[in-house]
Amino acid sequence: MHRGLFITLEGIDGVGKTTQALLLREYLEQKGHTVVHTFEPGGTELGSRIRQLLLDPAHTELSSMTEILLYAADRAQHVHEKVRPALTAGKTVVCERFVDSSLAYQGYGLGLGLEAIRAVNHWATGGLEPDLTIYLDADPAVCLARTKKDRITQRDLDYYARVRKGFLTMAQAASGRVKVISATGTVEEVAAQVLQAVEGVVR
Ligand code: TMP
Repeated sequence: MHRGLFITLEGIDGVGKTTQALLLREYLEQKGHTVVHTFEPGGTELGSRIRQLLLDPAHTELSSMTEILLYAADRAQHVHEKVRPALTAGKTVVCERFVDSSLAYQGYGLGLGLEAIRAVNHWATGGLEPDLTIYLDADPAVCLARTKKDRITQRDLDYYARVRKGFLTMAQAASGRVKVISATGTVEEVAAQVLQAVEGVVR
């Protein structure tokens, strides 16, 4: 059996990843795919505990290094328990956030070493890479106005400008894998662009 397709959705908090992931799932199921829709951090039971550690604003003492490693730990468990088994079984995985989020938020956003983050995540995932990444792009100020404040989203707009720039820089460097889609239109307009990008990789 062929390994299933691995599609990731990336973007700043409040950009509409979940809405688009659900529409994409519906589209792929209509095409006959068995789809696993999942997310990071927190796509497993153990991961949901790590998510709480990461997002609770009370954890003011949590260091940047710990933050990177907790996201990587969540990812290691997620890949081991959910993503890889699904792909091995020939299923299509639609995942909200993956390694690119760590590179954008912890690397570009916090200014931590990209190479170290890549290495840790390569280890955590066993080198798993998405077949396609959809990066939904929009103004952070607009996106963040829609979100609840947590330990990450309480960071300022300068931080989010760096995160956005990081996503766009990475997309340019990996243009074969990452498709940039403007998320400023209606849900339907954005979905049409997402489906067009996915058409290129679906079997
Ligand atoms: P979510 O709201 O998309 O579920 O993600 C929770 C927060 O975690 C969000 O603010 C983005 C952040 N995040 C990182 O900073 N690094 C990562 O590697 C991941 C997966 C998420």
